[in-house]
Amino acid sequence: MAHGMASKKLKVDKPVTIPAETAPAPKSANAPTEETVLSVRHYTDRLFSFRTTRPPSFRFRSGEFVMIGLTVDGKPLLRAYSVASPAWDDTLEFYSIKVPDGPLTSRLEKIQPGDVVLLGRKATGTLILDALTPAKRLIMFATGTGIAPFASLIRDPDAYERFDEVILIHTCRLKAELTYGLDLVASLKEDPLVGEMVAEKLKHVASCTREDYAVTDRITAMVDQPGRFAALTGAPLSPDTDRVMICGSLGMNVDLRARLDALGFQEGSVANPGQVVVEKAFVG
Ligand code: A2P
Repeated sequence: MAHGMASKKLKVDKPVTIPAETAPAPKSANAPTEETVLSVRHYTDRLFSFRTTRPPSFRFRSGEFVMIGLTVDGKPLLRAYSVASPAWDDTLEFYSIKVPDGPLTSRLEKIQPGDVVLLGRKATGTLILDALTPAKRLIMFATGTGIAPFASLIRDPDAYERFDEVILIHTCRLKAELTYGLDLVASLKEDPLVGEMVAEKLKHVASCTREDYAVTDRITAMVDQPGRFAALTGAPLSPDTDRVMICGSLGMNVDLRARLDALGFQEGSVANPGQVVVEKAFVG
């Protein structure tokens, strides 16, 4: 009897539930958009980049990040990714690590042209040109996939209009992990929009710490030796001449920030522009 009543009650409650597989997903104004993968390039067994369509409504400033992901088991699985393409580009590029058991990247690394990825509607971040006061040089320090926001900024004419020199310092463990940045900088020399500015103002220092290479210094070691820093970039690091952007692993960010604090660099934001901005490179 009790059992019968219970199932009767269930029957009253149940009819309003549409089976999950046929229920239209409720789309809120903030729900991610569905974008099509246009191309994918794998650099190493740990690194790849991909390009997607960009909805006309998606606005961002060069250097910002956005949520990117896939639908997994019917639900969006999203992670923050720096947009690697510049704000003027009508497609979007991302540069990603592959983590073998990473919930998102282990799936994302298998995407092919024509597949759908989810794109958040709102971009944000601290690595913004407007967060820095004017100076002679813009110096960008990146480790690993931390180069992604700078891949955007070095393609933005605004960076060259604001600074006399733009210096990208990228350090990875292995030589092959430098390929994305080396290929990008080489291709920019031919770029119709920024090619001339790049040839005149962009300097790229690529270093690799765990293999033989022309430069094998850690970023912190470069900064610790003003003579070495000057040999690599043209002058020692100073808040009088330089503005700094940092994007890398937590350890590198913390260790480099301590050195910049000691040199007198003040942190900046769009509301209160300064001399250095920092963001963690995203992984997972
Ligand atoms: P190293 O090879 O000497 O550890 P990771 O893949 O671990 O994020 O490292 C990327 C690059 O950043 C490597 O060249 C690594 O150097 C360097 N790195 C890691 N931690 C620090 C740190 N705390 N300060 C400076 N460089 C670092």
